[in-house]
Amino acid sequence: MASTRKFPHHLIREIFEQPDALRHTIEPRVSADAGLVRLDEIHISREELRALRRINIVASGTSRHAGMTGQYMMQELAAVPVDVDYASEFEYRNPMIGRGELSIFITQSGETADTTASQREARQKGSRTIAISNVEGSTIAREADGFIYTHAGPEISIASTKAFTAQMACLFLFALYLGEIKETVSEELAKHYIRELLALPLKTETVLAAAEQVEKLAELYYRVDDFMFLGRAIHYPIAMDGALKLKEVSYIHAEGYPTGEAKHGPNALIDFRLPLVIIATCDRNDAGSVTRYEKNVSNMEGFKKQGATLIALATEGDTTIPQIADHTLFIPHAPELLSPILEIVPLQLFAYYVAAKRGLDVDRPRNLVKAVTLE
Ligand code: BG6
Repeated sequence: MASTRKFPHHLIREIFEQPDALRHTIEPRVSADAGLVRLDEIHISREELRALRRINIVASGTSRHAGMTGQYMMQELAAVPVDVDYASEFEYRNPMIGRGELSIFITQSGETADTTASQREARQKGSRTIAISNVEGSTIAREADGFIYTHAGPEISIASTKAFTAQMACLFLFALYLGEIKETVSEELAKHYIRELLALPLKTETVLAAAEQVEKLAELYYRVDDFMFLGRAIHYPIAMDGALKLKEVSYIHAEGYPTGEAKHGPNALIDFRLPLVIIATCDRNDAGSVTRYEKNVSNMEGFKKQGATLIALATEGDTTIPQIADHTLFIPHAPELLSPILEIVPLQLFAYYVAAKRGLDVDRPRNLVKAVTLE
């Protein structure tokens, strides 16, 4: 899709390059028949990985949102406790980490100073380290015990999109790899997830094919000055990144919040003047997802009573959400742990179209740089 089209900005081209970025990141590392994940650059023994007591994920900005989804993936598939830190905060909490632990540093550029500094501290404390980066040979990768490159191709636009979805794919691959080593994932489940991973690029093309619907939505809302994005569980990091994308490129104040936390404060803000973007997808094969979905429906009904305008992300075929929300954007069905990779795409498109309609420099937002190489 992306290779032939002409795009007015790097950002929209990179959003449309995501299916290929996912293909190049996933396909070389999985064998669907054998149900195996192969990560050749992880130079840490299977025994050491099997014995891991804890995993720390450290990153900045959008990369940290990927790390937040990785926490759900690894705890669910590999039954290992995972902490997630802002790289800029990591050093201040005197991280009690050391031998028998793994620290994963996620950085598109591989050069973010907060992140490389955190990696050095983790190594000094005896932790093994893995880098997930989009730049081969970057500082973060050179100083790691192992690395998993995202093969997203150069990401020019300051706001990160294709690197982000590729990072989430890498985190899932690692969670599956670890689950196979620890035997917390059966061969049958591994084969199922690998088939679902391989189906993601095409599903992403489906979401991109509905870009025009998102552009129409942006036409309605590009003059608004405040937004709130809500997501529950593994969808909360996507709400965070949807809000960050809008902030970064359109300079609109936008907050990402856990859906269940709205009643502890933010509800006071919610009325007709504050549009809500809520992630209300559902994996009907996952009982936990269904339970959370039912809570989301109830929350949405409450927000509507408060006069809120609701923009919802729902799973294709859902007939309940469109009856409550003012606008519904549909996502193809995917397993709960993989749906975040699809859900962020309409939110990236929304941020892009709003910023473009506000006449802003979408690739080089004011005050921002692609890699913050000073702490
Ligand atoms: C910011 C970028 O400067 O750094 C963000 O504008 C990015 O897009 C963040 O998410 C972290 O960058 P990196 O390279 O460490 O992933």
